[in-house]
Amino acid sequence: MADLSAPAPTFARGLAGVTALESSICFIDGEKGELLYRGYDIDDLARNTTFEEVAYLLWKGALPTQAELDDLTAQLQAERTVPPDLLDHLRHHTPADAEPMAAMRTALSMLAAYDAESEDMSPEANYRKSIRLTAKLPTLVAAFDRIRKGKEVVAPLQEGSTAYDFLYMLNGERPGPAAEEIMDAALVLHAEHSLNASTFTARVIGSTLADIYSAITGAMGALKGPLHGGANIEVMETLLALDASGETAQAYVERKLAAKEKIMGIGHRVYKTLDPRATILRELLRGLSEEKGEMKWLEMSDTIRTTVKERKGLDANVDFYSASVYYLLGIETDLYTPIFAISRMTGWTAHLLEQWSDNALIRPRAQYTGPRGLTVTPLAERG
Ligand code: COA
Repeated sequence: MADLSAPAPTFARGLAGVTALESSICFIDGEKGELLYRGYDIDDLARNTTFEEVAYLLWKGALPTQAELDDLTAQLQAERTVPPDLLDHLRHHTPADAEPMAAMRTALSMLAAYDAESEDMSPEANYRKSIRLTAKLPTLVAAFDRIRKGKEVVAPLQEGSTAYDFLYMLNGERPGPAAEEIMDAALVLHAEHSLNASTFTARVIGSTLADIYSAITGAMGALKGPLHGGANIEVMETLLALDASGETAQAYVERKLAAKEKIMGIGHRVYKTLDPRATILRELLRGLSEEKGEMKWLEMSDTIRTTVKERKGLDANVDFYSASVYYLLGIETDLYTPIFAISRMTGWTAHLLEQWSDNALIRPRAQYTGPRGLTVTPLAERG
């Protein structure tokens, strides 16, 4: 029998630098600041494709033809409804002050019970469930936000893009083209990012051959953390607090660094330079700020960024500018991470489909640092 207490052959704290599996979905060059989905540069995708095209690309490995895109769009539109029981759960059994990611994590888990295919592990059924999950989460997020504000739930139009219908359900009115375009670009930018913590979590759960809902529920839990998807909320809270207190962005950075505290939206495990998604989000923020005549969030963000860069050599990540983009779109701060999840659902499910196409249980070793050889003292004699 294998000696399970023997040290693992290699050890890296936080699995930093460890290559855990092979994948053809996403490539990141952290030194150059390069990000590719299925071989396409993120800048090209953000400027020239929609979220639905990117979803198809991630799931199928190639950009869709017009007919394929029309077919996927129709499937996503058709799947936007959610079981009435789930809406009742959000209305009657979810406190209005529930943390949105906690509410959504539970709602997604509950969806399994309403999906006749939930235990069907065929590739075809798992693809259909990937579409279903991607289509239903925007409806759940919008419904939760309206219910907690005492408003009527707005049913999906079941037309237009994911971005369009989501903004419609959230606000109860059809969005203008600019808002739809910005939301769509944000969804493209957050869709996939290799083996980040939530995607890895999804693949670990999927590797046990548990169903897709189990894996996605786990991924939601991982994304919620402030070191991962939760950072965008903290970025906005920081900017709002600075605006209210009058403390300068520079003084804030100095104070945080002196206290050895982290500045949210800055730094990345993989990127050693500017996250390429932040470049595009900054552009979106600049356009939106000019349109709204409200430049202060961009200015504060830029000062924070340049000060941390000068002092620590660290640069902005995806969460840094997306926070102000969502703020200027009028979205509640605590919905930023659920919106990240709406987008990342495509990446998570693409990775699960890949995992199951050639599954191996993911089960690393731990480097044991505890004692050995202890013997049990009878309970009455333990002091
Ligand atoms: N603010 C200030 N210092 C930071 C920092 C930040 N946001 N991120 C990293 N650092 C510093 C650390 O203090 C440490 O400095 P030291 O060597 O002087 O002690 C060094 O950079 C390495 O940081 P560490 O946390 O060990 O690196 P990591 O690879 O584990 O961290 C993150 C990656 C993303 C967890 C980290 O950068 C972070 O916490 N960022 C803020 C949260 C965030 O924006 N998350 C979203 C990621 S997309």
